[in-house]
Amino acid sequence: MKVYTKHFFILIDFDITFIKSMSSKISHSIKHRATPKDVFITPKPLAKKAIDMIMEDIDEEPYIWYDPFKNSGSFYNQYPKYKGIEHKWSEILEGKDFFEFNENIDIICSNPPYSCLDKVFKKCIELKPHIISLLLGVGNLTARRIEMMEKAGYGITKLHMCKVYKWYGMSYIVQFEKGGNSIMTYDRVVWREEERFKKQKKI
Ligand SMILES: C[S@@+](CC[C@H](N)C(=O)[O-])C[C@H]1O[C@@H](n2cnc3c(N)ncnc32)[C@H](O)[C@@H]1O
Repeated sequence: MKVYTKHFFILIDFDITFIKSMSSKISHSIKHRATPKDVFITPKPLAKKAIDMIMEDIDEEPYIWYDPFKNSGSFYNQYPKYKGIEHKWSEILEGKDFFEFNENIDIICSNPPYSCLDKVFKKCIELKPHIISLLLGVGNLTARRIEMMEKAGYGITKLHMCKVYKWYGMSYIVQFEKGGNSIMTYDRVVWREEERFKKQKKI
């Protein structure tokens, strides 16, 4: 019996180590692609969901909607169409770089490239829209990025968790609003039980 139990634990240990190494290999290969293409096409019904979440909060005013990462237009092609609304877009594959875009806009709604998210967040803030709605991997909505947005005056007013077929892990539609009260709290402390770690580390 003892021998059996020992083998059983060795087997479990082996499985967990294997799973851990596979999952870290997957995230490593995503993070360090030789040429990060960052092209992940959003299912149209999910893009529509993000747009509808915004529309629940605003009236049909002459806002300027902007899709910085248009690709085939999962978001852009479904932006609302009514009198006075304007649509703008960029897409690096078509020679229009988001980081060189400097026009007036009111609403950003898109799925950004994950390889340069800090830069994306900073640029979104610079453009000063009223609403920023992004589809992100759950792990990409970090406390540091939320803090960056809060310091710039943006609160998370909506957060929708979802799963996209074949995408790694779960995703969020996160909606930031200028001057909005955030629906979530966070801190940047690395919490530990032990007394001796008096100096809490920050992530
Ligand atoms: C995650 S995909 C999303 C595509 C589309 N928005 C969708 O959801 O189906 C990101 C897109 O951003 C584009 N992209 C990457 N860097 C860019 C940049 N600096 N300016 C504009 N587009 C960029 C990529 O070519 C890619 O099409």
